[in-house]
Amino acid sequence: MSFPKSFMWGGATAANQCEGAYNKDGKGLSTADVMTSSKYGHPREVTQTIDETKHYPSHHGVNHYERYEEDIKLFAEMGFECYRMSIAWSRIFPNGDDAEPNEAGLKFYDNIFDLCLKYNIEPIVTLSHFETPLGLQKYGSWLSREVVDYFMNYCETVFQRYQGKVKYWITFNEINVMSTKPWMAGGIQEDTEQARMTAAYHQFLASAKAVQLAHDMSGAYQVGMMYNGHIAYPASPDPADVTRTTQFMHQMLFYADVQCRGYYPNYKIKEFERNNITLPIEEGDLDELRAGTVDFISFSYYLSHVVGEDTPLKFVGLNGVKTGYKNPTLDTSDWGWSIDPSGLRYILNLLYDRYQLPLMIVENGLGAVDKVEEDGSVHDAYRIEYLKKHLIELEKAIEIDGVPVLAYAMWGPFDIISASTGEMKKRYGFIYVDVDDDGNGTYNRYKKDSFYWYQKVIETNGASLKFE
Ligand code: BG6
Repeated sequence: MSFPKSFMWGGATAANQCEGAYNKDGKGLSTADVMTSSKYGHPREVTQTIDETKHYPSHHGVNHYERYEEDIKLFAEMGFECYRMSIAWSRIFPNGDDAEPNEAGLKFYDNIFDLCLKYNIEPIVTLSHFETPLGLQKYGSWLSREVVDYFMNYCETVFQRYQGKVKYWITFNEINVMSTKPWMAGGIQEDTEQARMTAAYHQFLASAKAVQLAHDMSGAYQVGMMYNGHIAYPASPDPADVTRTTQFMHQMLFYADVQCRGYYPNYKIKEFERNNITLPIEEGDLDELRAGTVDFISFSYYLSHVVGEDTPLKFVGLNGVKTGYKNPTLDTSDWGWSIDPSGLRYILNLLYDRYQLPLMIVENGLGAVDKVEEDGSVHDAYRIEYLKKHLIELEKAIEIDGVPVLAYAMWGPFDIISASTGEMKKRYGFIYVDVDDDGNGTYNRYKKDSFYWYQKVIETNGASLKFE
């Protein structure tokens, strides 16, 4: 096994899925704070204001806000070299449009970064991970151009504040989720293609401006895009299925095309013409997009799709991943997600062939139900198996295919709230957190078997994968 010496091993979380303390120390509400919990196959409800009779998992998360020292110490014990996390924008600007930032919010992330640096853990920071300040609803959230300016204000504040502490920034988590879950990605409830494309346009613009601002502010700053790593295979060798698969992939890849190349691809422009979709382009915008292409691509990878005759060419209802056929060659997780390790090698090649930019895997993992034994141990051999197979494919992409990969950040190193369902029982972690779907529990942390396994992987820079 040969991972580059500079390769960074670590894990990834999102503020609204782990911090809790949703209204503490001046934090304002975000779009995530009005999403109820649900269960597999059912969408989370968006209530706009807080309904005391409902359960909102972001309100407690896994109490990382209070326990971050313990959590980061456990990362250090595993040997983490990077930690991909997100800043809750509404902790910094509680309403999104405030004149001054909230010092307590800024300080909280100072503490996180200082601790990471103490343990030689490189922070990789997402500016917007499925949450937008709820206060920006009055402008129409990402449907509105004004929100681009408020986002830039936020970027300027954190780029300034965390100079010397943070080097890697990611603008929007899984920006392509705008096409499937527009409330999560952009705080918009208007479920039309025109609305989704308008909101995505504003995020492209904001991201391009953020890239330029970061570069102006520090020569050390690297800014990446974040792609929800969808890949799809044709259901059969029928050329018609191959064409359908290409069209299906275009729905997602166009987001990366814009952010990596700096312009909309022809296939999208043609689609807009056919469907009468217009973009709110103002003078100078297209130059901004070209000038603000990203330095690296980060992506999540969990599963692959199969596309055939009956597959809707639009991604719909991703909560249950109702996209296409079940792949008869693959197993699925308890939540119906196909398990496809070689798909990781495939997507690494796909993205590198297409853009020739360095890559970071900033999410990958298995959501599963864990059982805690009486002595507090958790025997999660299934998780180890999943991760091991993916890491072996990652190594092949690096070693055989020559794909430059900077980092691997496993999703949810301590158990956190599921984004799609709001459940707690869908667990990804190396570290078990004692809390249930309703938020009850001690919130104590326990090391699973996978904790020791990953520790070994990092210690040997991947060599242990070979000998197990
Ligand atoms: C990604 C998101 O889509 O998948 C994460 O960026 C999310 O926020 C992860 O948690 C896993 O999905 P889920 O629904 O199992 O939490």
